[in-house]
Amino acid sequence: MKRLENKVAVITGGNSGIGFATASEFINEGANVIITGRNPQSIGAATAALGEKAYGIVSDTSKFADIQHLQEEVKAHAEKIDILFINAGIAKFSSVDQVSEEFYEESFDINFKGAYFTIQALLPLINDGGSIILNTSINAHVGMPGASIYAASKAALLSLAKNLSAELLSRKIRVNAISPGPVVTPLHSTAKFGITDEQLKQMGEGILSQIPVGRFGTPEEIAKAAAFFASDDSSFILGTELIVDGGMATL
Ligand SMILES: NC(=O)c1ccc[n+]([C@@H]2O[C@H](COP(=O)([O-])OP(=O)(O)OC[C@H]3O[C@@H](n4cnc5c(N)ncnc54)[C@H](OP(=O)(O)O)[C@@H]3O)[C@@H](O)[C@H]2O)c1
Repeated sequence: MKRLENKVAVITGGNSGIGFATASEFINEGANVIITGRNPQSIGAATAALGEKAYGIVSDTSKFADIQHLQEEVKAHAEKIDILFINAGIAKFSSVDQVSEEFYEESFDINFKGAYFTIQALLPLINDGGSIILNTSINAHVGMPGASIYAASKAALLSLAKNLSAELLSRKIRVNAISPGPVVTPLHSTAKFGITDEQLKQMGEGILSQIPVGRFGTPEEIAKAAAFFASDDSSFILGTELIVDGGMATL
């Protein structure tokens, strides 16, 4: 029997990069998967590529009304779920003197507020014994110029894994975090990072030199870690974090 047979998973930001690879991995492990994202075209393309076990919902995680709508749509489609992968996120970089209130709010509204209220909205639909997985970042552990806001928004998720695990003990819902190091996805672009071509080039070279295994990770390598936390293979593991970073933070 496959590890996620008869399970239903919601993956926020499942139309691209790590979220898409995780949707594919969960389906390979037997799950039905609901993915979210802001763009109807990319949600449509992703669900078509994932096949009949995938269902897409357009929902902007930074908008409270969209999160309530997501709850209604998930309930109508699946009634109950077993796995929630909080993956939707942005990574914008700026030096501290350039950070505006809007910059701060965009990052925190998506990376933390959206994560928090998505969990709150979907909790009543999660079966007892379910698994919540938070996608954080190695930036929660290492210091990097320009990353103060992004890093803080991800570090906040690490405390959620502990506190919600404690709060949800009676329902046997485990909350764990994955902290990826640099991974090759569409995130690594000037538009998504909010930096210039030259800055992107310098950042890429600088980061590569800090990864002991000498390469970026793949989305599939993060998806394998998510499948571990989603399955009963990790049944005695809660409130903790798996760093998946080619040794960047630990060697
Ligand atoms: N790649 C890395 O090196 C790396 C390292 C550490 C952590 N991470 C984390 O991994 C997660 C996935 O990133 P990725 O690398 O796979 O990047 P990606 O390919 O850009 O994927 C990001 C996903 O998040 C979704 N998203 C962004 N804002 C959203 C919003 N407001 N509402 C709903 N969905 C939203 C995007 O969908 P739409 O844009 O269509 O809405 C997309 O599906 C992020 O949380 C990121 O911080 C990535």
